[in-house]
Amino acid sequence: MPNDPQQWDARYRSENHRAETEPAPLLCELLPFLAHGRALDLAMGGGRNAVFLAANGWHVTGVDSSRIALENAAALAEARGLPVLWVSSSKHRESRASLQAPSKELTQKLPGLWLLQVDLEHSTLPVGQFELVICFNYLQRSLFSAIEAALRPGGMLIYETYTLDQLAFPKGPRNPDHLLRPEELRRAFPSLETLFYRELYAGKGIASLLARRPARSP
Ligand SMILES: C[S@@+](CC[C@H](N)C(=O)[O-])C[C@H]1O[C@@H](n2cnc3c(N)ncnc32)[C@H](O)[C@@H]1O
Repeated sequence: MPNDPQQWDARYRSENHRAETEPAPLLCELLPFLAHGRALDLAMGGGRNAVFLAANGWHVTGVDSSRIALENAAALAEARGLPVLWVSSSKHRESRASLQAPSKELTQKLPGLWLLQVDLEHSTLPVGQFELVICFNYLQRSLFSAIEAALRPGGMLIYETYTLDQLAFPKGPRNPDHLLRPEELRRAFPSLETLFYRELYAGKGIASLLARRPARSP
């Protein structure tokens, strides 16, 4: 899988690219168990999951480094009649981008999908702001502790991405740095309670996690 945004832009622009618009089955299955609020979709891509959440009453901040991915997500949201807002990140002294979480009042005034172009390798996440964080098909180990911290007490994390088993199948990421090791995702968020975890070797190699930040966590 490519690393830099230009390569992702090219992939999203390519004639062979088939835009996925259906949400991940795991997200559909878990939706009834999630309380509403503010969601953060990390490495959102073309917005299939972010738009699904927004259509189901969530306020969603979708983050990706590819401008084309964000434009595709905006088009998908608008086609479904959802409001879209482009926001810009603020810069830290060390020039790391800082994602701002919208206040609850602002999400009521400006609902729908907010889009933010940032490189997650060079950005910080807000602390204790989101009722839900999702991350599908993207692995950045350096984000793990920031993801834990970004959740509000009681907030949920849904994380699903490829494992090393994917190498047995012809498609998908090939770089082992972008593939989870056995049990890695289960152990990646030690301050969260694991509610559901599985690793599948069935047509693809994938690990899935639902975890919750304890309601009384500091
Ligand atoms: C395989 S796609 C997954 C998209 C989406 N999560 C889904 O499952 O449909 C990976 C996405 O990660 C984004 N990405 C890669 N590196 C990134 C980075 N450093 N910061 C933000 N996004 C990044 C790419 O632009 C791409 O849209």
